[in-house]
Amino acid sequence: MIYLDNSASTFIKPKEVIKAVNDSLLYFSANPGRSGHKASIKSAMKVEEIREQVANHFNTPTSQNVIFTNNCTNALNIAILGNVKEGGHILCTENEHNSVLRPLEHLKQLGLIEYSIAYQQNPHGITLDDIKKELRHNTYMVICNHISNVNGSICDIDAIGNYCKNNNLIFLVDGAQSCGHFKIDIQKSNIDFLTIAGHKGFYAPQSIGCLIMNDKYKPNPITFGGTGTNSLELIQPESFPEKLESGTISTPLIMGLGAGIDFVEKNFNEIRNKLDDLTTYLNFELEKIGIKCYTEPENSFGVIAFNIGDLDSGEVASILNEKYDICVRGGYHCAPIKHKALGTLSQGAVRVSISYFNTFSEIQRLIYAVKQIKKHLK
Ligand code: ALA
Repeated sequence: MIYLDNSASTFIKPKEVIKAVNDSLLYFSANPGRSGHKASIKSAMKVEEIREQVANHFNTPTSQNVIFTNNCTNALNIAILGNVKEGGHILCTENEHNSVLRPLEHLKQLGLIEYSIAYQQNPHGITLDDIKKELRHNTYMVICNHISNVNGSICDIDAIGNYCKNNNLIFLVDGAQSCGHFKIDIQKSNIDFLTIAGHKGFYAPQSIGCLIMNDKYKPNPITFGGTGTNSLELIQPESFPEKLESGTISTPLIMGLGAGIDFVEKNFNEIRNKLDDLTTYLNFELEKIGIKCYTEPENSFGVIAFNIGDLDSGEVASILNEKYDICVRGGYHCAPIKHKALGTLSQGAVRVSISYFNTFSEIQRLIYAVKQIKKHLK
């Protein structure tokens, strides 16, 4: 099987990640942070060690600003719902995933906020000008998807972060698709909230995400419950990370994430080079055989969207799966505005997403398969 659906979830995990999850189940299964016995303390210390590691990776002011969540969606919901300002306006971009659009639409339908979309004028991605054009007098938050999960287009988070800082706008970055593939320093880029998905660029298991916070803004909780602290109080503790981490957190997944971040840090240049080489090669070859590609030729971030003639993208994905044993995602990618902007609302798009573990010959097999499908179209 050739697996090219790594934006949905990386399939091959580094052996270090598998070992960390296994070790967790063998030696760290006590509840981290609930009891005072040595097994619980050992789990809690391990979790705090990894919180520190995540904090260092993203350069947060303190490790208390790292919140472990169930996934990137959960982290985005905390940042959006937990910072809601009644009567305010939120600006997001055409690249947003439903994990941003649906909470925004929910708040809008409750009559709490208005939101609008910034579209990219430049084919490479969202610029500060695209954002500035859409700001309103009551805008209080700007949300930018860093790398589109549909076609890999990029957002200029440094320029936008700097502008948001100078204009007192909360800047939330959805790093689901970019974390692990980019070095992100939240202080340098003036990001107030960054959300990450462990199972993509960090090669961790599914269902571990993080909300990474800078110092200026702190969201209210959207879930309430036991934190292992202030247990006689009926109100949520004020201290972080507890305030935003109700219920037992997952030591195995957090240890998997820690090992994944280690792996990425040790192999960062090789990972980047691999993504660059394979994305550029695939893009070039698709163009050579006349395939309609929705990813810019210079884009090398590992996500490529295309269609073959007017074939339904879901059908192409099925043929690739059944006839050529190649896994890609067809149809829609939970990003309806992006499909509208790309003109793929009726056809969807075939999305190929590459990981460090893919090879040149796998991409050649994909190109061969696409050529065959195209040939039979005629
Ligand atoms: N958001 C994930 C994707 O792009 C699941 O496929």
